[in-house]
Amino acid sequence: MLRGPRGHLRASVVPAAALAAALLSSFARCSVAEAGERGSSSYFGTKTRYEDVNPGLLADPEAPQRDPRLLQGTCTPVQLIALIRHGTRYPTAKQVRKLRHLHELLRAHGPDDPSVAAAGGGRSLAAALADWPLWYADWMDGQLVEKGRQDMRQLALRLASLFPDLFSRENYGRLRLVTSSKHRCVDSSAAFLQGLWQHHYPDSPPPSVADMECGPPRINDKLMRFFDHCEKFLTEVERNATALYHVEAFKTGPEMQNILKKVAAILQVPVSNLSADLIQVAFFTCSFDLAIKGVNSPWCDVFDIDDAKVLEYLNDLKQYWKRSYGYTINSRSSCTLFQDIFQHLDRAVEQKQRSQPVSSPVILQFGHAETLLPLLSLMGYFKDKEPLTAYNFEKQAHREFRSGHIVPYASNLIFVLYHCEDAKTPREEFQVQMLLNEKVLPLVPSQETVSLYEDLKSHYQDILQSCQDSEECELPKWNSTSDEL
Ligand SMILES: *[C@@H]1O[C@H](CO)[C@@H](O)[C@H](O)[C@H]1NC(C)=O
Ligand SMILES: *[C@@H]1O[C@H](CO)[C@@H](O)[C@H](O)[C@H]1NC(C)=O
Ligand SMILES: *[C@@H]1O[C@H](CO)[C@@H](O)[C@H](O)[C@H]1NC(C)=O
Repeated sequence: MLRGPRGHLRASVVPAAALAAALLSSFARCSVAEAGERGSSSYFGTKTRYEDVNPGLLADPEAPQRDPRLLQGTCTPVQLIALIRHGTRYPTAKQVRKLRHLHELLRAHGPDDPSVAAAGGGRSLAAALADWPLWYADWMDGQLVEKGRQDMRQLALRLASLFPDLFSRENYGRLRLVTSSKHRCVDSSAAFLQGLWQHHYPDSPPPSVADMECGPPRINDKLMRFFDHCEKFLTEVERNATALYHVEAFKTGPEMQNILKKVAAILQVPVSNLSADLIQVAFFTCSFDLAIKGVNSPWCDVFDIDDAKVLEYLNDLKQYWKRSYGYTINSRSSCTLFQDIFQHLDRAVEQKQRSQPVSSPVILQFGHAETLLPLLSLMGYFKDKEPLTAYNFEKQAHREFRSGHIVPYASNLIFVLYHCEDAKTPREEFQVQMLLNEKVLPLVPSQETVSLYEDLKSHYQDILQSCQDSEECELPKWNSTSDEL
């Protein structure tokens, strides 16, 4: 897919399955050349397709991806809490505006412009790009696309097959759904419910969400969009012009400048008319066309694998400084969500100990990449020894922190609580496993694939405790009197 500028042009619409196969083989070729890389097709950061981190799904998107490390035997799953990012979505209005600008630029300076008389292989690609339709409009503004609904239905089908007792028909009325207020999340939760319905009643159309036994998902932005409600985060990071210093510095650094020059030559527009932001949106167009339309866009031919790595890093830098280890408050702001998860687990353990039925066997929470990344960071995942900066791109080639692997569309972080009874052990035990994108995620303290619930809780005791005091998001008190002096 990511071919050099002289790569073969394919502006026609290819059937999605054939395209997926072609993509897979072209990436397989690349990744062979790059020893040590864990998969190569996820350079698009948060715009990565879920099936690119779970390639088994390309063949059969409804087949459960059973990780062999999932507990079986004497342990029964008694509760599942899933944090789910919405499915594939349209570009935001801001991205659409940038795309339109790029398109206008191409048409204004395109290959017919005599002042940039074509002098090389770029000509035909520039022409193909100028002719390539701009199918995105302002109204689309980040909404869930049909492919995104499908992401959710298929995830629901797979999870229901993987945990049949939890997602049983009897439990349907006890499902508990919470969502961010954003359309793409509300729509994702509805599509997920429809997938579950399809699992139980494959021959009857699902009722509307409002008529479902479990009731409609409840909107809770304090929980799912905690970043909008954390004053300290808003002041120190979100509204702070210098907080993303490394992102800005990388945009003007040598790696990006090389790409700017190269792309200007391909597009045949003056380099002064391009910016890192426009290049980034051009790169994302390759992913939008693929994820949304299922077509291989000529925009993919503008960038080769080395460019893709630089643009991936630019995206990761932003996630790192805004949502992850860059600033402590980024992850601390998620502690109420973290605490909410452990409260549900606590309650289930208590109910089980009293031989009562678990009141909420399945809890589904629909949010954003910005919901998942801080929480994973709070728990200590994907932390590199050195921070990601504008100046260590080369050194970070094998970094842990790659948002395309962590939070693609439809990414999901799942906590499974098990009740274990072993004839040999006199006392009952509760164990926990975590899954990220349907693969078992080793627990941070032990690196084991399973933990005693009590051990996990005591590892995170400080976070759970300090969150209770709930001063995480308060700003230091300003003394306005002295400030004005
Ligand atoms: C490109 O930049 C020049 C100045 O460098 C400006 O005059 C021109 O309007 C720009 N073209 C477009 C299409 O934005
Ligand atoms: C903005 O970010 C910079 C860099 O991290 C920091 O030094 C400064 O204190 C922040 N400003 C505010 C108002 O928090
Ligand atoms: C604010 O500053 C004034 C003058 O320095 C002081 O008298 C007052 O106690 C301070 N108030 C607070 C809340 O710290």
